[in-house]
Amino acid sequence: MVGIFSLVTGMVGPSGFGSSTTAEQVTEGIDASNLTIIITGGASGIGLETARVLALRKAHVIIAARNMESAKEAKQLILEDNESARVDTMKLDLCSIKSVRSFVENFLALNLPLNILINNAGVMFCPFQLSQDGIEMQFATNHLGHFLLTNLLLDKMKQTAKSTGIEGRIINLSSIAHTYTYEEGIRLDNINDQIGYSDKKAYGQSKLANILHSNELSRRLKEEGVNITANSVHPGVIMTPLMRHSSLLMRSCNNMLCCSASKLERGNWEVLFGL
Ligand SMILES: NC(=O)c1ccc[n+]([C@@H]2O[C@H](COP(=O)([O-])OP(=O)(O)OC[C@H]3O[C@@H](n4cnc5c(N)ncnc54)[C@H](OP(=O)(O)O)[C@@H]3O)[C@@H](O)[C@H]2O)c1
Repeated sequence: MVGIFSLVTGMVGPSGFGSSTTAEQVTEGIDASNLTIIITGGASGIGLETARVLALRKAHVIIAARNMESAKEAKQLILEDNESARVDTMKLDLCSIKSVRSFVENFLALNLPLNILINNAGVMFCPFQLSQDGIEMQFATNHLGHFLLTNLLLDKMKQTAKSTGIEGRIINLSSIAHTYTYEEGIRLDNINDQIGYSDKKAYGQSKLANILHSNELSRRLKEEGVNITANSVHPGVIMTPLMRHSSLLMRSCNNMLCCSASKLERGNWEVLFGL
């Protein structure tokens, strides 16, 4: 991750890329035509830009979204730029266990390979609410939904990695906000405590869970000798609809620091695109 100074100035790092480098620049010359990629929340913000550029590099991209109207618009946007893009959309609501299971069932029925899973969707700082399954919303969406999705898709990813010889990748979009969480880290015994709820700490808690998930999964995959890596990434500060529950002050600060989703920093694109 580049520091604040480099982030604001766009100064390049040792790799020759900086915060003003675009995803297109980072992936220039890459042929991803042999890759099938699922990206959650690929209908907006970072997910949309990731989907667009991966499709530009000829990958088959599946946008998994809760709002199919937005997903359709996202696909249209990508196709306007690149009419040969291979982009499909599928319904996935991460805060519903039923929806995650049904997404996986539908995906497996397509009999496609799966090389890369980008767990990108997320909500931030929302007021206290419970998911359909009765779990605090930020934890349910940002961590639990992705945790279940990953587990249910893992066999497919292992089969793909084995049959193609291509290293599989699982990427969890986390955040520097993982450092700002409840005193006990993750409130596993008290996840639905409304009285002590902090919208910021609940977000941090869910992002910490993303990192722990990647770390433990990575350890297990190595132990098993499976040709798949698991990583988490902080994407930088990017002005997206994610900020909808942020205060005006925070949004203004972010605005000063932020880059657009098409100008993510090199180090993080490397992880996102598995370079
Ligand atoms: N932007 C930043 O500065 C920043 C910094 C650090 C980390 N991140 C992380 O980066 C990731 C992407 O964020 P972003 O900034 O691109 O935000 P964004 O534009 O709001 O995108 C988030 C996506 O997640 C989707 N989503 C939310 N709840 C969902 C659910 N229950 N099921 C399925 N999809 C759901 C949203 O769909 P709807 O459009 O339907 O809401 C949206 O498409 C997040 O995990 C975030 O925590 C972002």
